[in-house]
Amino acid sequence: MDLTSESTTAAVIESFAETPDPRLREILQELVPHLHDFVRKVRLTLPEWEAAIGFLTAVGQKCDANRQEFILLSDVLGVSMLAETINGQESGTESTVLGPFHVVASPERADGDTIDLIAGAGPCLVTGRVLGTDGTPAAGATVDVWQCSEDGFYDVQQPDVQPIGNGRGLFHTDAEGRFAFRTVVPSHYPIPTDGPVGRLLLATGRHPFRPAHIHFIAAAPGHRTLTTHIFVAGSPYLDSDAVFAVKKSLIADFDEVDDPERAHRYGMHNPFRAASIDLVLESDHGTDHVG
Ligand code: BEZ
Ligand code: FE
Repeated sequence: MDLTSESTTAAVIESFAETPDPRLREILQELVPHLHDFVRKVRLTLPEWEAAIGFLTAVGQKCDANRQEFILLSDVLGVSMLAETINGQESGTESTVLGPFHVVASPERADGDTIDLIAGAGPCLVTGRVLGTDGTPAAGATVDVWQCSEDGFYDVQQPDVQPIGNGRGLFHTDAEGRFAFRTVVPSHYPIPTDGPVGRLLLATGRHPFRPAHIHFIAAAPGHRTLTTHIFVAGSPYLDSDAVFAVKKSLIADFDEVDDPERAHRYGMHNPFRAASIDLVLESDHGTDHVG
């Protein structure tokens, strides 16, 4: 009763004291003072509070099976990347954001298959290995990949142009931990701007672009699952990714390669563009650091 602007905070913290799950209790009791401090600090007005509720309502209403506006909001606020950074591997390949487009299952594909179902103009070979941090190859690992087209759209954004599954594939590594797939070099692209998150970017003078990249989720028994990208060297926006997700170690050359034997092996025209990445996974028994 008769709570003041200060004592309200203590009362709300105390209201969560009996939360049976200790982690849920910790999170809520930390969240409340930050949230209340913020409201006090900016002296939030009631119309601003109503606008914020309206904004979050619009974010929820924009979500459906193919559209995840809440992930997008987390992304542009840097929260997704922050969560990745504090939870990422201490050794091995750096992780980066999942993003909102991993919304349909990637079709199972055989080694060397193409994920480009619409015959793009610039064929490209992507090869790599899945390894433990001690260099041991992870045989039978799964490598889930997804990317946008050369025009900068994911399949789910262009159902009339791209078949669902275009730009996606689920691969399995061989005995040496190797995988390979054919694709096209993806374009940089704007994150979706036709919703409340786009309006936020517009209102704040921020551009919506992400540098060109291919997404990966690599998983192997006994190892931590890795969510990451490879970024195309030289792409615009490497220095100003709208979702703050670029790591230098993940930038790869997609240079033209003149290799008739390899072109023949993969049924590609020579020369072709090629990139490679090793996906190095920590063991799932804590970190692999010694000492
Ligand atoms: C993506 O890379 O697919 C992505 C990540 C964050 C926001 C929008 C798209
Ligand atoms: Fe993407």
